[in-house]
Amino acid sequence: MASSRLKYLSLGVLVFQTTSLVLTMRYSRTLQGDGHRYLASSAVVVAEFMKIITCLLLVFKEHSYSVRALSSILRQEIAHKPIETLKLAIPSGIYTLQNNLLYVALSNLDAATYQVTYQLKILTTALFSVSMLGRRLGVYQWLSLLILMAGVALVQWPSESPGAPEKEQLSAGSQFVGVAAVLVACFSSGFAGVYFEKILKETKQSVWVRNIQLGMFGLVFGLMGMFAYDGERVLESGMFQGYNTVTWIVVALQALGGLVIAAVIKYADNILKGFATSLSIILSTLISYFWLQDFDPTSVFFMGAMLVIVATFLYGYEGKPSPNPSRA
Ligand code: C5P
Repeated sequence: MASSRLKYLSLGVLVFQTTSLVLTMRYSRTLQGDGHRYLASSAVVVAEFMKIITCLLLVFKEHSYSVRALSSILRQEIAHKPIETLKLAIPSGIYTLQNNLLYVALSNLDAATYQVTYQLKILTTALFSVSMLGRRLGVYQWLSLLILMAGVALVQWPSESPGAPEKEQLSAGSQFVGVAAVLVACFSSGFAGVYFEKILKETKQSVWVRNIQLGMFGLVFGLMGMFAYDGERVLESGMFQGYNTVTWIVVALQALGGLVIAAVIKYADNILKGFATSLSIILSTLISYFWLQDFDPTSVFFMGAMLVIVATFLYGYEGKPSPNPSRA
């Protein structure tokens, strides 16, 4: 079945994209010790822009490279359907908030606590899939999601290596702010993902047109965020200050991430997306161990990795999740 091939292809590309993003980010950190830092708010804007351009090219290709067809699609589907277009402002606004919350979280928490706590989004996503899409999960599937969450948490559990990267002293107050930010991000991640899935599967529009609609709002919200947070710095030294080749690669991988996530949500679903990203966390940690040699896998890591793998098999064990009624 073509749709089942697309499902596994999109999940496979997601594993590849998440793994390379993590590795590039880690590599960029070991590479550049000083110098100007690029503005995170600017990276968000550039990634949104890249996504829109790529989606426009994909729609252009879908319509046999006809400029006329492209402009008529954009007029028909976007300009002439303002209500449909506005619906995408909801997930887009939530994602913008979420992307910013994650920066708040990372500035108030150490990376490990952040990553471990953020795994709760596996459960919030399942809860929203059940309540908003009417998906039914069996006992084994709920159990496998719990195991998955525990497994990823263990995989990301900090190991006590003496040469660990600089650890800032974090106050209890900032811990609280950080954890609160991650918890809100878990709910927003689950809600926005499932809302986008609902829109994609309940309407016939191309996923790329939907992504252009999402990206347009993302760009507007992102620009607002950039000027609100870094307005002065942008006016002083431009929005591309501190960019280098690695920054461009990270931004491009982030843009690719948005596109792949959209494809995964369309051809698979948000719950399977959780499995793909969990597996890629293990993969990137292992590659990082062999390639960058900056990680020493502990027994806790291997236990976590085992749990993730067991959860992946267990999820498919009890029959199949009830098919999505509107899946094409
Ligand atoms: O953590 P979570 O899986 O919710 O993150 C999803 C990310 O994917 C967000 O940063 C969001 O901006 C991005 N995304 C996107 N395009 C989509 C869906 C999600 O860029 N169609």
